[in-house]
Amino acid sequence: MKRLEGKIAVITGAATGIGQATATLFAEEGATVLAADVNEEALHKTVSTILENGHKAEAFLVDVADEDSVQHFATRLEKTYGKIDVLFNNAGIDAPGGKVHEYSTELFDRIVAVDLRGTFLVSKYLIPLMLADGGSIINTSSMSGRAADLDRSGYNAAKGGVTNFTKAAAIDYGRQGIRVNSISPGTIETPLVDSVAGARDDEQGKSFRDANTWVTPLGRLGTPREIAQLVLFLASDDSSFITGEDITIDGGIMA
Ligand code: NAI
Repeated sequence: MKRLEGKIAVITGAATGIGQATATLFAEEGATVLAADVNEEALHKTVSTILENGHKAEAFLVDVADEDSVQHFATRLEKTYGKIDVLFNNAGIDAPGGKVHEYSTELFDRIVAVDLRGTFLVSKYLIPLMLADGGSIINTSSMSGRAADLDRSGYNAAKGGVTNFTKAAAIDYGRQGIRVNSISPGTIETPLVDSVAGARDDEQGKSFRDANTWVTPLGRLGTPREIAQLVLFLASDDSSFITGEDITIDGGIMA
């Protein structure tokens, strides 16, 4: 039996990286994947590949930081599907911005708007589609929500917020059968690492990856598929008594 057979699963940030890997895995496990992102080209590629493999998916151009866009998305979902079973709030951005006194207000606002406010907005407008039958929400936080990074105060603040927002939502909706958990990945090889550290083949990107490999007890960066496996566990009934929890998945960095 596939673990998400017959389930309707929304994934934000589904075009690339962790979201794309999770969309692929959820579809393999029987879910209808409703994939949302701002990167139209990559989003359509992700969804086309899922459809070509004989699974179910639909693409939605959604900006999680834009309330109108999220509201419009929720209206479309309600009309077409009526309800959802799983929500993976995963869209996120990151960039180094210098020390706090150098950090631009625009960058701080932008990161908080996508990573934290986006998680709130999508939850606010999509939870009504879960109230009748319950479901599972998984928010992508980060080890940067638990411990700090040099020059990344906006990201640290946003992800710390995501972890605690998760707990608040878990308490709000436990009685409705909606479980809410977050995941805190370590360093995962995705396009986001390029925007923080530089590409794999430039000098800065290479030294960032070498340093992160060195501090990771398992001696390597994580893969998007490894994160997707944890999200699948939290989305499925295998985790039916887990809510309000943040699960670190970092190859041992935080140990
Ligand atoms: P990624 O850059 O491949 O994926 C992020 C996705 O979010 C992209 O498809 C992007 O287009 C989308 N996105 C960005 N802004 C958006 C918006 N306003 N509305 C809708 N979609 C938007 O990077 P990755 O690594 O897969 O990131 C996924 C999540 O994982 C993020 O929340 C990130 O902060 C988190 N994370 C990543 C880690 C890593 O080492 N790669 C570590 C810890 C957390």
